[in-house]
Amino acid sequence: MKGVILAGGTGTRLAPLTHLFNKHLLPVGRYPMIVHPFMQMVNSGVQDVLVVTSPDTVGFLARLIGDGHRQGVQVSYRVQEHPGGIAHGLALARDFVGEHPCLVILGDNILTDNLKPYVESFRAAPQGAHIFVKAVDDPTRYGVAEVRGNQVTRIVEKPKQPKSNYAVTGIYLYDERVFAVIDRLSPSGRGEYEITDVNNDYIGRHAMSHTVLTGDWVDAGTFSSMQVANQLMQDCTYPEFA
Ligand code: TTP
Repeated sequence: MKGVILAGGTGTRLAPLTHLFNKHLLPVGRYPMIVHPFMQMVNSGVQDVLVVTSPDTVGFLARLIGDGHRQGVQVSYRVQEHPGGIAHGLALARDFVGEHPCLVILGDNILTDNLKPYVESFRAAPQGAHIFVKAVDDPTRYGVAEVRGNQVTRIVEKPKQPKSNYAVTGIYLYDERVFAVIDRLSPSGRGEYEITDVNNDYIGRHAMSHTVLTGDWVDAGTFSSMQVANQLMQDCTYPEFA
């Protein structure tokens, strides 16, 4: 199992804090934001992690996280030269992931669930894709998973009339076919390669399963959600991340 943390993007909603470097270096609790998804990776048992980030941030992230030896993992870095979308960032992990399954976490996702059991069961039978959803009060802000029985039937981006209150979080498990799916994508109306299109492709092939997170989850990409994330993580410490 390989791990990919996607920490590129433009962070326009957090400007001007993001004029110098990406949001993933901004404080959430006692650590720069990215440390939380990185420790999620470490605690999920993934031992080989790729961090994808922008040219102006890669040096800072390399200084912050290093090669991972303190946490007992191997960390490498890849530059996403322009923010072409989440699926575009993931495509840069193709050689790193190879024929393995992968756990993908967006670098601004803060959560309290332990991913290890899900990662282990996907590792045992790595087929299709698995998304993590969270029941939220305001689903119109998110990609929303429509669910029938225990099947996700569709993901709709920011629906005006959401058919469920399940936000699709930025945590995904994929089999090795994910790169072939990305190869078939076209850019969306906003000119990005969308991870929702990747997920809808798996759903269309009946190859998608899901878990409803029971702990807290925040996408820390706005001023108000970063504040919520700060509160959530205020007492969180990682002794392995000295
Ligand atoms: P978003 O929050 O959707 O995009 P953004 O980071 O550019 O922010 P804004 O919308 O405010 O301009 O991205 C979610 C996560 O995905 C974030 O942690 C960064 C990552 N990402 C990439 O790695 N590459 C990309 O090209 C994009 C768009 C996002």
